[in-house]
Amino acid sequence: MKMIKTIPEIQAEIRKQREQGQARTIGFVPTMGALHQGHLSLVQACREENDVTVVSIFVNPAQFGPNEDFEKYPRDFQTDESMLKELGVDLIFYPAKDEIYPPGYSTYVEVEKLGQVLCGKSRPTHFKGVATVVLKLFNIIKPDRAYFGRKDAQQAVIIKRMAAELNLDVTIKALPIVRDPDGLALSSRNVYLSPAERGAALHLPRALMRAQERIQAGLKDAAEIKAGIETELRKSPLLTVDYVEVATLDGLEPFPGSPGGQLIASNNTLVAAAVKVGKTRLIDNFILGEI
Ligand code: PAF
Repeated sequence: MKMIKTIPEIQAEIRKQREQGQARTIGFVPTMGALHQGHLSLVQACREENDVTVVSIFVNPAQFGPNEDFEKYPRDFQTDESMLKELGVDLIFYPAKDEIYPPGYSTYVEVEKLGQVLCGKSRPTHFKGVATVVLKLFNIIKPDRAYFGRKDAQQAVIIKRMAAELNLDVTIKALPIVRDPDGLALSSRNVYLSPAERGAALHLPRALMRAQERIQAGLKDAAEIKAGIETELRKSPLLTVDYVEVATLDGLEPFPGSPGGQLIASNNTLVAAAVKVGKTRLIDNFILGEI
């Protein structure tokens, strides 16, 4: 496994890898490090489906708002590196901030509308930062396939839309959420939670699981689904609700609420929620149908 920090070097290495055989495929897993089993499931899929696996580790300042946790976001390159080595990753791209955003950097890409709903309401510049760095990484690595987690469902939808609308020659894969045995979706931010906060955070997967059961039992009214989730979430005083939304998957268009809450479709419907537990923002979702 090689670790490369500069753009010219990773580009030269990828050219070399491609020249080693006809139709060799490059798979790519972009990450911000602090890797957990969710990331590793993406790496495993990438290894299975491609000849060469590239993982980037870059805590992207452009996707953090001014009062968010960029400075304290967990960073542990050595542990990440040894996990990736064990999984048989070929290349790690680990650029410094100035390698991606040199002084005076000014070009950004924005996926309109999709980036302004759900998480975009409380994080208005987040998806512009995500789309920009992912497009830059795609231009650098030129992968055939790229792997994202469905916990960040809105991110996956936005990247898919960007790839389609900018005619990028890459297949976007969005893989299932990986959870701890207690149900909490894995996230690099879970390390921030105190034991009491972690207990409170469990209301999020429980509320969504309960909603899933009610939908399976026949509930179709979007307003009632949302209200049920909100009621569950408000049971914990340690938890504040950012949003609960029931939306179409491709367009992220909310199904209207009460009165007369609209009936959800039986697939391609995203049920998503974001909460704050103390200072930690957590998201979770389920999808009726596939991304
Ligand atoms: O999902 C993440 O970790 C990040 O948003 C990504 C895709 C690596 C871009 O910085």
